[in-house]
Parts: sequence; structure tokens; C-alpha cells
Amino acid sequence: MQLDVFTLFPEAFEWFRSQRHVTNALAHGHELECVNYRETTPLSGGQVDDMPFGGGAGMVLRVDVVEAALRARYDADPVELRRRRRVLALAPNGRLLDDALVDELTQEPALTLLCGRYEGFDERVVEHFATEAVSIGRYVLAGGELAAMVVADAVLRKLPGTLGHESSALEESYSVELDGAPEYPHYTRPAEWRGWGVPEVLLSGHHARVREWRREQSRLRADAESRAGERASHDDPR
Ligand code: 6GU
Repeated sequence: MQLDVFTLFPEAFEWFRSQRHVTNALAHGHELECVNYRETTPLSGGQVDDMPFGGGAGMVLRVDVVEAALRARYDADPVELRRRRRVLALAPNGRLLDDALVDELTQEPALTLLCGRYEGFDERVVEHFATEAVSIGRYVLAGGELAAMVVADAVLRKLPGTLGHESSALEESYSVELDGAPEYPHYTRPAEWRGWGVPEVLLSGHHARVREWRREQSRLRADAESRAGERASHDDPR
């Protein structure tokens, strides 16, 4: 996969790039590159944002600045680009990221992530350059960088060869393998700590019983989650 992140803060991704599953992905031929909008801005003095029409607080990333960055990177009109490449605008009001969307993105040969800053993007970026807007939750971050890292992390760790153990990305929380349920609890040594034990079945060596216990735990967690969800929607009916 070729993953490009457009941002005003490429240095924010340095720690992310050094993560084991990311370096593994890069060693397997996947690519992660950061592109700084400021380097191709058509405006003087490195300007990239502007005051919102209609007034209000904060600054908005300009559509001409985003266009120049996309053109320089792909040598194409961004309106054409999005026909052949998935371009995600990270925005708090976008489609909520979940395991199904991550799986969808994992199938793509190439992805572009556009980070907004301040008050976000000029809406024409989302409308004409992006294939979709994606959000990591219903709260507002100061910029799209953390959200882009969340998307990149969730996608890269699913690519073959990026995790030490191939199957660890398979039977995990919210996967099809667990019927979309959260993952079962894990335990490791010591088998007893301050009198806190470990479920006996896990120490039994009975693989079939372990499997059955894990499925059951996963189902119990799913039930607890859906009850919590119902309580929340009762408290806050929309
Ligand atoms: Cl993608 N961006 C920003 N700025 N805030 C967010 C978000 C994205 N997802 C949730 N909150």
C-alpha cells in the first residue's frame, strides 16, 4: 500500500513512523509519506489558511493550497485523482471509522489522507477533492493529524507481515471472526498475583475448551456493550 498523508505538521508523524508494525510494513514494501502543504503553497509567506467567510473564530485551510499540494504530488487535477485513488479528508463530522471501514481501506493499493487544521478545511476540499470524510469519533480534535495516525495505524497493522504473529489481527475485537464482538480477556504470568488468579480453563491445556470460553467471554462483552449503548441512548435520546 502506498499511504500519503498531507499535513502542516509532518514532524508529528516521526514517532508514528518508528513504531514496530509501521517499520515492518515499510520493510515489506508498503510506503508511508508525509507531504507538507506549506511546501507548495501558491501564496506568499508560506500562507496556507485564511479567515472563514461569514466571520467566526479560527482559521480554515484553503482550497487552492490543498489543490496545489495534490497537483504537485500526483501531477493530476485532484478532481480526476479521486476517480482512481481513495482520498480521505479527516473531519470530525465524517463517516465513523470502524473495523469494517478499516478492512475496506486495507484492500486499497493507495490511500491519501488529508489533515485539516484549526477549523478544518474549506468545504470545497471535501466536496471536490476527497472521496469521503472520515472521523474517528464524535468529539473535536485540534487537527486531523492524530486522526490520520489512528487511520494509518489501524490499516497498516492489518497488512500481511506487519504484526509479529499473522493471526493476531484476525481474531480480535470487532472482527468478523468474533462476529463483530469485542475480544475476550487475556492473561499472562504470573498465574497468581496478590491473590488474583487466572481463569482455570486457560491453564488447563484443553484447546477446545479454551476456544469455547473465549467465544463466551466475547459474547458477554458484546452484551454488556449493547446494554451500555442502550443506557446511553436512553439518557441522550436523539
Ligand atoms: Cl478526523 N478531525 C478532527 N479535527 N477532529 C476529530 C476527528 C477528525 N475525528 C474526531 N474528531
